[in-house]
Amino acid sequence: MSKKKALITGITGQDGAYLAEFLIKKDYIVHGLKRRASMFNTERIDHLYQEPHIDDRNLILHYGDLTDSMNLTRIVQEVQPDEIYNLAAMSHVKVSFDTPEYTANSDGIGVLRILEAIRLLGLSNKTRFYQASTSELYGLVQEIPQNEKTPFYPRSPYGVAKLYAYWITVNYREAYNMHASNGILFNHESPIRGETFVTRKITRAMARIVLGMQDTLYVGNLSAQRDWGHAKDYVQAMYLILQQDKPDDYVIATGTTTSIRDFIKMTGEKLGLLISFEGKDIEEKGYIAGVNEAVFNENVGSQYLENIKMRLENYSVKKARKPLISVDPQYFRPTEVEMLIGDASKAKKVLGWEPEYDLKGLIEDMILSDIKLMKKDAYLRNGGYRILNYFE
Ligand code: NAP
Ligand code: GDD
Repeated sequence: MSKKKALITGITGQDGAYLAEFLIKKDYIVHGLKRRASMFNTERIDHLYQEPHIDDRNLILHYGDLTDSMNLTRIVQEVQPDEIYNLAAMSHVKVSFDTPEYTANSDGIGVLRILEAIRLLGLSNKTRFYQASTSELYGLVQEIPQNEKTPFYPRSPYGVAKLYAYWITVNYREAYNMHASNGILFNHESPIRGETFVTRKITRAMARIVLGMQDTLYVGNLSAQRDWGHAKDYVQAMYLILQQDKPDDYVIATGTTTSIRDFIKMTGEKLGLLISFEGKDIEEKGYIAGVNEAVFNENVGSQYLENIKMRLENYSVKKARKPLISVDPQYFRPTEVEMLIGDASKAKKVLGWEPEYDLKGLIEDMILSDIKLMKKDAYLRNGGYRILNYFE
């Protein structure tokens, strides 16, 4: 029997990388759409990427872009995929306020381009289509928790573009009888999460801070609440959605919501740090107010304790206090999504989907990985090599 073929757009992103790995393990041949970039951007799939001259490869990349319909049509024609996972998107909510037209083109019309390619190539009965829909559709939430029937109220150019994408997927399913489904995924993170999303920004910065490479992390709205899961669990849901006899739309979420402030505190706990917040609104600051030395030594290393003890000493005598966290309004959004919490009962019942990770497990996975990464940076810096700052 010939192997199943999947085409993943956005394969170089967080979800694309985990999904490619998952499908290759299931014996798929995975084709991926990759944008041309001035540097290599295949770091997340490097462990799966094979030398292009090898026969029988199970991962094949194609240059392409969601804004180029002829290119998309040609790739779909060449690959003749059994399944398409459309994960490509300009996925940063804040950036979508700066690039609204581009976001509409790639995240909204881009979906139409793929659906039309499937239809025009006569693949409607063969190719199953998954659209990466989002909890950002709920925006100004109309119901708590949010499920498949909750009305949408997007709050950003990204959310509005994804609203079009959601409905055009539903429309092609109904109009042309296509196997086209939406996964309405709530926030999901991992050690390979993009560095400018808040969770990864926090775990990277806190790793640098405990290693003495940075003093303070600047963030935006500390009170926003998100329903965070692990990307590894969420790509399994994408796969399950396309294995159903009937196409449909599913919420994928953990059912727990947590503020950014509490995410920071929980990350601190894993490092043995007690973090205390003082002040209000843009004057709010977080300080290291205690240390559990045994936990710190185990997860960070006793050689880094001195710096933390000094900060603690300054904190208690209220002198030369360096905040761990400070608010910078540049990270606020013109319209904010204050709270998301999903109800994934339908996915659990119909797909049999169950997440393995809870928030504690997710944070542990992310912070321990970033401590390792930053230790590598520290090692290079101490050896006289340049390391990148990645200022946002
Ligand atoms: P991500 O890490 O930002 O990855 C996005 C991917 O899309 C990257 O491979 C990127 O390529 C590619 N891309 C961007 N614009 C493109 C274009 N015009 N043409 C072709 N490729 C393009 O995002 P993610 O977290 O993996 O999310 C995957 C999808 O799920 C996205 O559609 C996102 O909107 C949606 N989603 C994510 C979450 C979440 O919490 N992660 C929740 C709900 C929905 P480069 O590598 O070249 O930048
Ligand atoms: N990025 C960022 N940076 N967000 C911050 C910061 C900061 O410094 N400080 C506070 N936040 C708040 C944001 O205002 C928002 O309320 C929350 O943290 C989460 O922001 P992000 O991590 O950027 O994610 P998002 O929820 O806006 O969008 C992500 O999840 C969506 C699903 O709900 C993205 O992955 C989207 O692509 C996805 O659709």
